[in-house]
Amino acid sequence: MPYQETFAVEDFIDKYEEEVEYNIGETCCYSMSLDDLELVTGEKFSFEADKRLTYGPIRGSTELRSLIAEIYSNEDIVLTKDNVLITNGAIGANFLTFYALVGPGDHVICVDPTYQQLHSVPHMFGAEVDLLHLRAEHKFIPDIDELKILIKDNTKCLVLNNPNNPLGSVMPTEKLMEIVALADKHNITILCDEVYSPLFHSCEKPKSLCQMSKRGIVTGSMSKSYCAAGVRLGWIVSQNKQFLEEAASRRDYNMISVSVVDDSISRYILRHRQAVLKRNFALCRENMLLLKDFIQSSNGKFSFVHDPQGGSVCLLRINGINDTHEFASKLAEEFKVLCAPGECFGIPNTIRIGYANSQRDLVHGLRLLELAYDKLISQ
Ligand SMILES: Cc1ncc(COP(=O)(O)O)c(C=O)c1O
Repeated sequence: MPYQETFAVEDFIDKYEEEVEYNIGETCCYSMSLDDLELVTGEKFSFEADKRLTYGPIRGSTELRSLIAEIYSNEDIVLTKDNVLITNGAIGANFLTFYALVGPGDHVICVDPTYQQLHSVPHMFGAEVDLLHLRAEHKFIPDIDELKILIKDNTKCLVLNNPNNPLGSVMPTEKLMEIVALADKHNITILCDEVYSPLFHSCEKPKSLCQMSKRGIVTGSMSKSYCAAGVRLGWIVSQNKQFLEEAASRRDYNMISVSVVDDSISRYILRHRQAVLKRNFALCRENMLLLKDFIQSSNGKFSFVHDPQGGSVCLLRINGINDTHEFASKLAEEFKVLCAPGECFGIPNTIRIGYANSQRDLVHGLRLLELAYDKLISQ
């Protein structure tokens, strides 16, 4: 069996999620019930009671794949359902991409910090992995010179994440174009995890990588911006149909198809995506103001590592507390508030906040966060 590292953030969240009262670690926009969704979309959801519960179309229904293709199309590049493969969440999409793409003898470069899966899984499949550190002096987006130094003869894949989890930094189109040109020159395939797209609530919307690169691979899902993690449905989108065929043939071995119910709910949400996204952009922006007020009135106890431009998460530095793993554990156990310690992303002295959850969770969670800080700092 290949060696598999513990997935630090999932491990921490799983330990406390069911015990806490306020979740300020939630990465998804506040999820709705189907009843609530009907109020937003103006259309009743119905799953045909007489529909037979078969596997459904193996690669995902034609309507679902066409809706996703539409999201990633623009006036220059029009994608179709044949550019889309349905998976179990973005986590399934990333895993499948690495499974189809990398192995022993390959070199992978991955931005850091990011969602741990993006560097742990290629490592697990036997590839050599180097991290491309994102730095404050570069606004936490990749530096081309540093990337050039990391490229080797056997570099097979470059892994990006736009918007970034945990920082909320966003790579603009021009930077992506530079990276694509460099990758093309060296025959490197880029995987861009765009699971937080299109939540570009405080910056211009950059192009998706799959619009800019013929060989680029993009992953996404219903979880974050479409606030429906419960359907466990994601996708791979690419202009590279040969890669999608390879991924589909690997996928035959571990998922067959997604649930027909999940496919149906996802179609319903994506048909009404403008209304759902409008609600979620407003949620991000309103909650961001609450978070900024909180930081400002904390008199230096808390500060942004990076002022988030997109997505629904950010890192907060906590003045004077170095062991934020211990702090976040106490916050969950004694104050019943959940957030992820920065140690899960290799950045101690910070915690990751998900600010697009309900305002109730955010307001009470932040109040208790400050109480916990005052108590623990004075001990
Ligand atoms: C960057 C990133 N990719 C993928 C995932 C997995 O998302 P999904 O729920 O679509 O599997 C997450 C979840 O937090 C994430 O932050």
